[in-house]
Amino acid sequence: MIKIFKFELFLTLTISIIFLLIWTSTGLADDKDIPSLYQEYEKHFPVGAAVAVADRNRTLDSHRDLIKKHFNSVTAENVMKPETTQPARGKFDFSQADELVDFAENNNMKVRGHTLVWYNQTPDWFFEDENGNRIDKKDQISKKERQLVIDRMEDHISRVVGEYRGRVYAWDVVNEAIDQGTFRQSPWLEIIGEEYIEKAFKFAHKEDPEAKLFYNDYNTVQRREEIYEMVKELIENDVPIHGIGMQGHWGLDEPSITEIEKTIQKFAELDDLTDKYDFEIQITELDITMFSWGDESKPDEPSEEMLKKQARRYEDLFELFIEYSDIISGVTFWGVADDATWLDNFPVENRNDWPLLFDENHEPKDAFWKVIDLMK
Ligand code: GLA
Repeated sequence: MIKIFKFELFLTLTISIIFLLIWTSTGLADDKDIPSLYQEYEKHFPVGAAVAVADRNRTLDSHRDLIKKHFNSVTAENVMKPETTQPARGKFDFSQADELVDFAENNNMKVRGHTLVWYNQTPDWFFEDENGNRIDKKDQISKKERQLVIDRMEDHISRVVGEYRGRVYAWDVVNEAIDQGTFRQSPWLEIIGEEYIEKAFKFAHKEDPEAKLFYNDYNTVQRREEIYEMVKELIENDVPIHGIGMQGHWGLDEPSITEIEKTIQKFAELDDLTDKYDFEIQITELDITMFSWGDESKPDEPSEEMLKKQARRYEDLFELFIEYSDIISGVTFWGVADDATWLDNFPVENRNDWPLLFDENHEPKDAFWKVIDLMK
């Protein structure tokens, strides 16, 4: 009797162990068995992430599983910027951008192209004359020099947009052209004048008439009137512009949800001016820093209080995005998990920040669950 009992016990134990082993090896037992962010939001908008391809920290490799599971849209964090795609005149390099686009296509993800015309991460040669001297307002810019820079812009846009025609569904055509109350100083503005903006959109549209073309900027709350006026004028002049990208590098308290909502409402008014297509708003570079501007403290880890506040903040933001999801056509995070974020070096160098939904061990934070719970 005892023998039989022992045998049964042995059998039950062995079967349980085998079952447990199979279970863990298929990954079902680990805590990665959580809802997929993009799947939860599928009926509202695609959820994207900026992915690093070139940097030492290639999140395309180190965060691959997380990206595949939770995002259905990607943006190149750096490798589609002019310094990578055309580092020297006429020398185009799409190898790194291709890696990301291939990855996206193999995993049924959308690709946002970022960015074509910007004052930053753009090589100097764009703004040099044939002798390699900087074209400068001080020396009177000739018509010929202006045309040279326009031609370079056209050539760049045509080659890059053409390379990904039909594969990149949306482009940040012009990035950060507005400052408080005025146009931002940049070599594009200095050499070509305000017209550089409409030209960029026209060149992009010519190359890929199907692509959605965005104007993208930060501090959109503070600059909403200026951005609104500029885009309104572009639309009225029949410039092919289909949306505004609100970067969304925001803090725990600022800007307030009310102000962000007012900004979305203001930009949404532009839809009344575009009768041939729906005007769109996208959140293109979302991350929520733990630090307010000017705070230079360097804690080793985020406090409970910070994490709670951040979770509530993400909850409020996503509640707002859902409310306006008829005009918000995409929400993209600027990064994937807290172990790889540009905010570790900005605005304070070498200071850890924790701005995303996944922690440094790629585990979901409270903020993740708040965002998921909104869909329950
Ligand atoms: C801006 C740019 C992005 C990126 C971030 C910081 O928002 O649009 O490409 O450079 O700054 O990393």
